[in-house]
Amino acid sequence: LSAGDIRFRRARSDDARALAVLRYQFRSQLAEPQEPADQFVGRCAEWMQSRLAGSTWVAWLAERDGNVIGQIWLNPIEKIPNPVAERETNAYITNAFVLPEFRASGVGGELLRLALRWCEQAAVDRVVLWPTRRSRSLYARNGFKVDNDLMELRVDTQPGVGHDA
Ligand SMILES: CC(C)(COP(=O)(O)OP(=O)(O)OC[C@H]1O[C@@H](n2cnc3c(N)ncnc32)[C@H](O)[C@@H]1OP(=O)(O)O)[C@@H](O)C(=O)NCCC(=O)NCCS
Repeated sequence: LSAGDIRFRRARSDDARALAVLRYQFRSQLAEPQEPADQFVGRCAEWMQSRLAGSTWVAWLAERDGNVIGQIWLNPIEKIPNPVAERETNAYITNAFVLPEFRASGVGGELLRLALRWCEQAAVDRVVLWPTRRSRSLYARNGFKVDNDLMELRVDTQPGVGHDA
């Protein structure tokens, strides 16, 4: 596999179905799917199609011989204007995935750098993501650090939250 065989570009709405197939492959390996593959791919492709046709979401893909082999998604998170010298947008990166047979040869790193270049151009302040154990090294190499100030809450594990109606 040589780097020249692989093309990188922004994803378009007509890529949605191929990207949804990869999404199924990614998530169904992490846990037992609760939804038939066809149904999920249809639902996800529709979601992706509409997001890529016009929303704040942006995505990039890697392709080889016209087949999509990897993707990464980003959604800006607006910050409220503030009067000090601080950038006013954050960003959330998600759905980084490369097909197993193409991993560990730089494809994911290139997708990540495309997303980070977008962040620089969009004057993003902080980029957040939830790595898997195995992918932490990739993000660390690209400047990500564990921030002990970030707090998260899994809402559905909190008794009482959302049950007061
Ligand atoms: C994470 C992933 C997108 C990186 O793409 P890639 O093309 O393999 O990445 P690169 O070749 O540019 O970089 C290699 C790094 O990717 C990560 N990586 C490699 N294989 C991986 C795997 N099977 N699972 C998770 N991360 C992996 C590691 O950080 C690796 O660095 P290291 O070898 O120094 O530890 C890809 O490996 C993947 O799809 N993994 C499974 C899904 C996943 O865990 N996604 C991350 C969600 S945050």
